[in-house]
Amino acid sequence: MARKIVVTSGKGGVGKTTVCCNLGVQLARRGYRVIVCDLDFGLNNADVVLGVENRALYDVLDAVEGRCRPKQALVAHPYYPTLFSLSSNRVLERYVSPQAIRLVLESLSPQFDYILIDSPAGIEDGFHRAASCAEEALLVTTPHISALRDADRVAGILKSYRFSCVGLVVNLARRDRRRAEFLSAEEIAATLRLPLIAALPEDDKVFSENIVAKSRAFRGLADAFLNAEAGVQLRAQGRGR
Ligand SMILES: Nc1ncnc2c1ncn2[C@@H]1O[C@H](COP(=O)(O)OP(=O)(O)OP(=O)(O)O)[C@@H](O)[C@H]1O
Ligand SMILES: [Mg+2]
Repeated sequence: MARKIVVTSGKGGVGKTTVCCNLGVQLARRGYRVIVCDLDFGLNNADVVLGVENRALYDVLDAVEGRCRPKQALVAHPYYPTLFSLSSNRVLERYVSPQAIRLVLESLSPQFDYILIDSPAGIEDGFHRAASCAEEALLVTTPHISALRDADRVAGILKSYRFSCVGLVVNLARRDRRRAEFLSAEEIAATLRLPLIAALPEDDKVFSENIVAKSRAFRGLADAFLNAEAGVQLRAQGRGR
């Protein structure tokens, strides 16, 4: 069964979709079967970041509302055969329950290793819908003070979901410690009391190309993600620390 991980943030524009799609690519490069599921209805762009826009005949809402089978809503990535996009190509016109989406994801789950869920920013319905479909979470923030305050709020709310694992990704992390107003990634993790999965620097290639398969930072993100997961499994089995 696939592990379902929601990629979330407090503030918008901090890099959730970038992290979600690049992690998906890195996991697929390692041979895992991955779905990137876009639950940011209305402002969806994971398909664009993955470079598969205009390829979908159906989207997640079609699957939820029975216009297609869940598998038909998946778009295979042209370069990474084990990577699939499950897009959301429209604004919600009526309420869609988390349970309805969960059922779609559950039916796809046996054939996949990971379902990465791209969430809308903030703490409104869309965030709760995305979080309710997952068992684990990655919280993305930048070191900016406004992003940190929002991340702190979300970190508190994520606790109530009792996820098996909540990890932190600091995006646009600063190595330049001369600027005292920026906390280091480690300081941010300590402040938010979350394990740091990765600190990703600003990268012009990410900005222009979205997916940077050879990026050392994203490869490191995937390694750390898999290690963190292994740690959780060991703890769950009563081994390790
Ligand atoms: N590490 C990075 N280096 C350079 N540019 C980045 C990096 N991370 C993200 N970006 C750029 O920042 C912009 C916002 O990123 P992204 O869309 O992933 O954020 P988001 O959190 O998903 O936004 P939203 O809340 O609107 O969904 C994009 O143009 C993206 O290419
Ligand atoms: Mg996004």
